[in-house]
Amino acid sequence: MEINPVKGTHDIIADEAYLYTMIENAAMGIASLYGYKEIRTPIIEHTPLFLRSVGESSDIVNKEMYTFEDKGGRSITLRPELTAGVMRSIVSNKLYANGDFPIKFCYVGPCFRYERPQAGRYRQFNQFGVEAVGAPSVYQDAEVIAIGHRLLNTLGLDNVKVLINSLGDEESRKAYKEALREYFSKHIDKMCPDCKRRLEVNPLRILDCKVPEDVEIVKNAPKMTDYLSQESKAYLRTVISILKSVGIETEVDTNLVRGLDYYTGVVFEYHFAKVEGVDNVGALGGGGHYANLLAEVGGPKEEGIGLAMGVERLAYIVKSTLNPNTKIGADVYLMGMTDDIIEQNFVLADMLRGNGFIVEMNYATKSLGALFKAANRKNAKFAIIVGEDEFNKKEVSVKNLKSQEQTLVKLEDLDNVLHSMLNKYYADENPVDTGKEEQ
Ligand code: HAM
Repeated sequence: MEINPVKGTHDIIADEAYLYTMIENAAMGIASLYGYKEIRTPIIEHTPLFLRSVGESSDIVNKEMYTFEDKGGRSITLRPELTAGVMRSIVSNKLYANGDFPIKFCYVGPCFRYERPQAGRYRQFNQFGVEAVGAPSVYQDAEVIAIGHRLLNTLGLDNVKVLINSLGDEESRKAYKEALREYFSKHIDKMCPDCKRRLEVNPLRILDCKVPEDVEIVKNAPKMTDYLSQESKAYLRTVISILKSVGIETEVDTNLVRGLDYYTGVVFEYHFAKVEGVDNVGALGGGGHYANLLAEVGGPKEEGIGLAMGVERLAYIVKSTLNPNTKIGADVYLMGMTDDIIEQNFVLADMLRGNGFIVEMNYATKSLGALFKAANRKNAKFAIIVGEDEFNKKEVSVKNLKSQEQTLVKLEDLDNVLHSMLNKYYADENPVDTGKEEQ
C-alpha cells in the first residue's frame, strides 16, 4: 500500500530546498546585522504554554493545535509558532538575570497548525522570526519592522505593503473591546458560530473573521483609532516616522488586530501586492509588540516585540516572480570522453569546487552528444571540454551553453576566467533596473 504524505505537509526537494536554504540564510544573516543571536527551542512544549501566551480566544489554540498526551500522561503540543517557546526559554534559562537588555534572538524552524490546506497554508510550515525583549522603545519596534522589510528587499520583493496599527494600551483596549461588544451584540444572531464564541471571549478576534457575511458587518464596526489614548497615537506616529526615515512606507490598517492574543501596542503585517498569475497567499509575515507575554509565562514584566515570516510563502512568491530563465544548477559541467580525461577532470573538479564553483562531471565515458544532454539536465551554465590535444597543452575549451560561444582557456587562468564569465552570465540574465527607459 502506498503511504501518502500527511495532508497539509510537503516535501521540499532539491532546487526548492536550495531556495528555502537561501531564504533562511538571508533572513538569519540580516537578523545578525542587527545584533540578533540564534536560538533553537524544542518543537514540543507543554500545552499550557500556548494556552497562556497565544491565548484561548485565538483560532490557533481553539482549533489548530496538534496536542497529544505523551506516554507519561503529559499534555504536549507541537509548537504552532516560536514566540511562546522563546519566552519560555528566556524564563527557563533565566536569561534576564543579568539585566542585559534587550535580549535579542532570531530563529528558523517548523511550526504546526491544523488549518485547512490551501495556497500558502500548510499544516507543517517553517517560520523565520526575531524577538527583542526588555528595552521597549519606538526604535526597537521600528527595528523589528525594518528587519522584515530588509529581508523582503533582499529577496527582490519590493512590491510589498507594510500594514501597521496599534492595539493601544490597556485602557484603550478595554474601552475599544466594550465598544465592539456593544456593536456586535446587535448583529451576532446573523454571525458565524466562531464569532458568537469570540464575542464572549474576545470581541477583537471578530475583526479577523473571514466569513464574507461577517466581513460586511465588520466593515462598519467601531475603529480602534477612535479609542486610542493620546500616548498610543503618538507612539504609532513616531514608529511610522522612524520607518519613513529609513525609506519604509507603511499603511495604517485600523482592522489589523492579528490572530494571537499576546499583542499590545504596535502590530504589523507584510502583504505582497496582487500580481496576475501569482496566488494570494495571505500575509508574508507579521508581528507586534507584547507588554505582558514574558510575565504570563512566568518571567519578569519586561516588554518585547517580534516578527515572524512564513518561509513557504516567501519561497512561493520568490519562485513566482523570479526570472524564468534563472535556473538553479551547476556553474560548470566537466566533460570527459576518455578514462584519462575523466581522471584528470576529477582533479580539476576538486580544484574548482575548492574555489567555490558548483561543478558536475561524468564518471563513465559517454559521447559528446550525451554529455551535452547531461549538462542541460543539470542546468549547467558552462561546459568544460577537454580534448586529448588540449589535455597535453594544459588548455581547456569553455563553452557558454546559452550563447554556444566557445573559448580556449589556459588551465592556469581558468579560475579567473570562469569567475568573470559567470559574473557576465548573471549580469546578462538579470539586468539591473536603472530606472531609465530602454531606448
Ligand atoms: P503569525 O501571523 O501567526 O504570527 O505567523 C507569521 C507568518 O507565518 C504568517 O504571516 C505566515 O507567513 C506564516 N504562516 C502562518 N500560518 C501558516 C500556515 N498554516 N502555512 C504557511 N505559513 C503560515 C506568529 O506566528 C507570531 N509568532 C509572530 C510574532 C513573533 N509576533 C511577535 N513575535
